[in-house]
Amino acid sequence: MRPAPTLPDAQTVTEVEHYTDRLFRFRVTRPKSLRFRSGEFVMIGLMGDNGKPLLRAYSIASPSWDEELEFYSIKVPDGPLTSKLQHIKAGDQIILRPKPVGTLVLDALLPGKRLWFFATGTGIAPFASLMRDPDTYERYDEVIMMHCCRDAAELEYGRQLVESLPEDPLIGEFIGDKLKYYPTTTRDDFANKGRITTNLTSGKVFTDLGLGIDRLDPETDRGMVCGSLAFNIDMKEVLEGYGLREGANSDPAEYVVEKAFVD
Ligand code: A2P
Repeated sequence: MRPAPTLPDAQTVTEVEHYTDRLFRFRVTRPKSLRFRSGEFVMIGLMGDNGKPLLRAYSIASPSWDEELEFYSIKVPDGPLTSKLQHIKAGDQIILRPKPVGTLVLDALLPGKRLWFFATGTGIAPFASLMRDPDTYERYDEVIMMHCCRDAAELEYGRQLVESLPEDPLIGEFIGDKLKYYPTTTRDDFANKGRITTNLTSGKVFTDLGLGIDRLDPETDRGMVCGSLAFNIDMKEVLEGYGLREGANSDPAEYVVEKAFVD
């Protein structure tokens, strides 16, 4: 039995998994009325000490067909929200405002052949949703997930998810061999190294994945970017350099960008 809600827009935590001292994932009950498009975010949080809700934008990491909601979060020791949120346990309640929004949606991109997901750190969260959406594979022939973190432990959430997908009873058959995964690190001795920006401009990712291309092409390639502010700015320059233009819900184009949650 669920405990009676005591917070406004309360949802109950069903599962928590910690990956490192900086990263964790949690699942909560989903409001029956909540509909969202893969890649969108909602405001979630806890009641602050002052009795007011302390809310931050969090990308929904679960697919729209999932009966629960999943979130992937950083833990910032002094972060107003995450310093508290990191201690939640199954059965606890969080606040979730059921108004999904965001630019990282398939509808903000023009049709194309190849879809690139570019993420640093917790920026993989919206792609954890999009990678589990059948629509992604119906619209594109190839989907490439590039994820860059400081070290291999920080890749773990994405790695486990991507590796589980081909066997997934609901989404596996849509994926087939369309999804390619390119994880890299910058601060340890992981096999695959380098920043996403560097691996694009050097052409290393094209060679390593055997894609038979040496650049992104605005005719065929579409991109979604989610990471730190500095990463997003640098990625925009790289993508614009290939001739891709930034799109929006109201004006679809070749790429879209959103900042990953930082406390
Ligand atoms: P680096 O170690 O070279 O800074 P963070 O955890 O600090 O958000 O970083 C996540 C990953 O994103 C790190 O591997 C980091 O590389 C990389 N990164 C940070 N800033 C940029 C940027 N401006 N362009 C490309 N990659 C970046």
